[in-house]
Amino acid sequence: MMFIRSFVFFFGVLATLLLGWAALVGIPDIMISEVKPPEGLERYTAEELFGRQIYIREGCLYCHSQQVRPEGFGADQDRLWGRPSVPADYVYDRPHLLGTMRTGPDLMNIGVRQTSVSWHMLHLYDPRLVVEESTMPPYPWLFEVKRTAGPDEYILDVPGNRVPEGKVVVATPEAEALVEYLLSLDRSFDAPQREVTNDDDE
Ligand code: HEC
Repeated sequence: MMFIRSFVFFFGVLATLLLGWAALVGIPDIMISEVKPPEGLERYTAEELFGRQIYIREGCLYCHSQQVRPEGFGADQDRLWGRPSVPADYVYDRPHLLGTMRTGPDLMNIGVRQTSVSWHMLHLYDPRLVVEESTMPPYPWLFEVKRTAGPDEYILDVPGNRVPEGKVVVATPEAEALVEYLLSLDRSFDAPQREVTNDDDE
């Protein structure tokens, strides 16, 4: 009796685990294994990939999602954040940065919505310089305050008298790469249509 009980228990646990694995990992993996890179989606450049690493390191994804919901699932379409996201939008995203929180707006198409480098630079240096009541934290460690800028360095046009006399604020290579990455976020191309195969016709 004891033996049969353990047997049932063991296979019960095994079946539960397998079912969970199939539903959450196995079947979804098969469903998206055929996804091809869509026309219009560019591969990230080395610079953009570096910026992506900074995005991950700085935890931007704890406040920003990268997934636009369709009509009927929240207000994303009214917010003009772009067309609903499809699996093909993420073929080059490893790991994906879907995010779960939206303390700030979705960034799936920030490269379409905000194209100004100087805006992004100031916003990262101190969000309140460009968005008065922003609750986004500043990232001053992505910038350097120094006497003179190097020949290729980006100098921020910081308003007011925030910068000490005779000093300039320049973007570090990390800030430059991060902004490149943000500008590359553009899924304004048409979503690839899924090939519909109708098995009933056969
Ligand atoms: C604590 C939450 C939080 C974190 C962390 C955060 N943000 Fe934000 N972000 C916000 C909020 C809130 C806004 C909206 C107010 C504003 O524009 O500043 C915002 C706005 C933005 C915008 C403008 C979006 C638009 O539609 O205009 C960009 C771009 C942005 N964040 C990028 C970043 C990047 C890059 C990082 C990481 C370096 C980051 N954010 C980290 C909260 C956050």
